[in-house]
Amino acid sequence: MNTKVKILDEGNLDIEIIKEAGEIIRNGGLVAFPTETVYGLGANALDPEAVEKIFKAKGRPQDNPLIVHIAEIEDMKPLAIDISPVALKFIQNFWPGPMTVILPKSSIVPDITSASLDSVGIRMPSNVIARELIKAAKVPIAAPSANVSGKPSPTDVDRCIEDLNGKVDLILGGSMCDVGVESTVIDCTVSPSCILRPGGITLEMLREIEKEVYIDPAIMKKAEGNNRPKSPGMKYRHYAPNAPVKIVKGNLNKTIAKINEMVENYISENKAVGIIATDETREFYKNALVISVGSRHNMLSVSKNLFETLRSFDDSKVDIIISEAFEEKGIGLAIMNRLNKSAGFDIIKV
Ligand code: TXA
Ligand code: MG
Repeated sequence: MNTKVKILDEGNLDIEIIKEAGEIIRNGGLVAFPTETVYGLGANALDPEAVEKIFKAKGRPQDNPLIVHIAEIEDMKPLAIDISPVALKFIQNFWPGPMTVILPKSSIVPDITSASLDSVGIRMPSNVIARELIKAAKVPIAAPSANVSGKPSPTDVDRCIEDLNGKVDLILGGSMCDVGVESTVIDCTVSPSCILRPGGITLEMLREIEKEVYIDPAIMKKAEGNNRPKSPGMKYRHYAPNAPVKIVKGNLNKTIAKINEMVENYISENKAVGIIATDETREFYKNALVISVGSRHNMLSVSKNLFETLRSFDDSKVDIIISEAFEEKGIGLAIMNRLNKSAGFDIIKV
């Protein structure tokens, strides 16, 4: 397939391009597009044949449901049959934005979109390209992250092209995604509601609106035995660059010392090491490819750069990646969830 790429200026959208993209979606094609979280790979959520193309393009397991993206709150009504007062409160406070609510689905949502579950994940993104595309398509858009299954999600258009060139009709490019990790998924079919995937709308933010919110305990542990996450997508190996990732967790000074010690050992085995450091610590490492993922004083900078940092180590072909850890509060919970998964929970405590 010949994939067109169109780069848009978010401050001055080319409406003709958006119209063309909307038509492709309406006619059953695939369009990749930026959102405030990560790039998405979109198709008409109500057209089973179009949705099937998403699974093929990504190599995605069929038991993993897709999120349905809408442009206005009213667009949710035909998709969900019962919107609880709690769900409504979350929606009113956090849409448009990086939050997906799981609601009991209506019969217009095809089984392939929701992986035959009786619920559906719905999200209203804030990114202007995403919103205008959905409006132009005049249908809700099913969109998983625009990566090949297993890879870290793309947060800029070049990574999106890397994964999807030749597999989709059109890639819309915008600026780098702000949040950098995928949306918070909150299950509102249960009471109290439950976070199935942490993201940009944090546990603390949700609890300010509704005291009783809990986190699926499975998401911060390795999926094995009885520990099965409720969100199908969270059970797969994910966010993984080619080289194995190890996380060193604990007191920051001890972390730095431990990482330097590990580097020496790997070097003696002729291995090239990549280090995920921060602005505050990067200067303390040597004999490795050191990338600062952001500042510890601005955790949003860390979430924004995380996937790009993981993917850039693939380009440099290091043999092993060692990462510092972050406090699991605020967006730090989402950062550690993705890092833990990319490392297959290979955590060294110091
Ligand atoms: O930020 C995002 O959410 C991005 C952008 C493109 O919007 N999309 C995204 O989609 O991350 P995806 O498919 O990569 O991840 C969707 C997650 C998966 O873990 C999936 O299992 C879960 O949401 N999910 C979707 N529908 C669900 C449902 N009905 N019940 C439980 N989990 C659901
Ligand atoms: Mg994904």
